[in-house]
Amino acid sequence: MKAIVVYSSKTGFVEKYAKWIADELSVKAVRTNDVKVEDLKDYDTIVFGGGLYAGGINGIKLINKNLHKLKGKNIVLFATGASSGKKEEIDEVWDKNFTKEDQKNIAFFYLRGGFNYDKLNMKDRMLMMMMKKMLQKKKDLTEDEQGMLAAFEEPVDFTDRGNIRDLIDLVRKNSKID
Ligand SMILES: Cc1cc2nc3c(=O)[nH]c(=O)nc-3n(C[C@H](O)[C@H](O)[C@H](O)COP(=O)(O)O)c2cc1C
Repeated sequence: MKAIVVYSSKTGFVEKYAKWIADELSVKAVRTNDVKVEDLKDYDTIVFGGGLYAGGINGIKLINKNLHKLKGKNIVLFATGASSGKKEEIDEVWDKNFTKEDQKNIAFFYLRGGFNYDKLNMKDRMLMMMMKKMLQKKKDLTEDEQGMLAAFEEPVDFTDRGNIRDLIDLVRKNSKID
């Protein structure tokens, strides 16, 4: 059985998880920009990871626009965001990116990343400055929102290799990779 890790990462958090997962499974990790869906036909298991950007999963088009070409494969997704990953938020991300029918055939994990303003591109910086202004005006911030505001001043990194364990167990179980 063959597996591959494909990922899209803007500031390095997803990349860290992708490389840990690839290392654990002894398979390769490649960036979404460096693969075409046709390249995935040789693999039985595809682990895909992308960062959360306003509830969307960065790079996910490679998977959700090509599900018909990936039929019969084990597809295991992970999304990485700055938030703590409350169930209702993760369910929302899931529903935003995949139909209920497609969700039945795909495993989905949230692996908490972090936030590093200094590494953002211009467009994301502008979006985040708007968000910052909004949060500064808002009363009764949630814990995640307070954390987000603090993260503008000082980068935060919640990545932890231990977070990949359930994903690894599932991949091993489904694809008999040791
Ligand atoms: C414009 C923008 C929107 C974001 N939206 C979300 C979000 O909806 N949920 C979340 O948890 N994190 C959000 N984040 C934080 C990123 O998902 C987080 O920094 C993640 O670790 C990035 O991973 P990457 O750098 O590997 O792409 C956002 C960040 C930016 C810049």
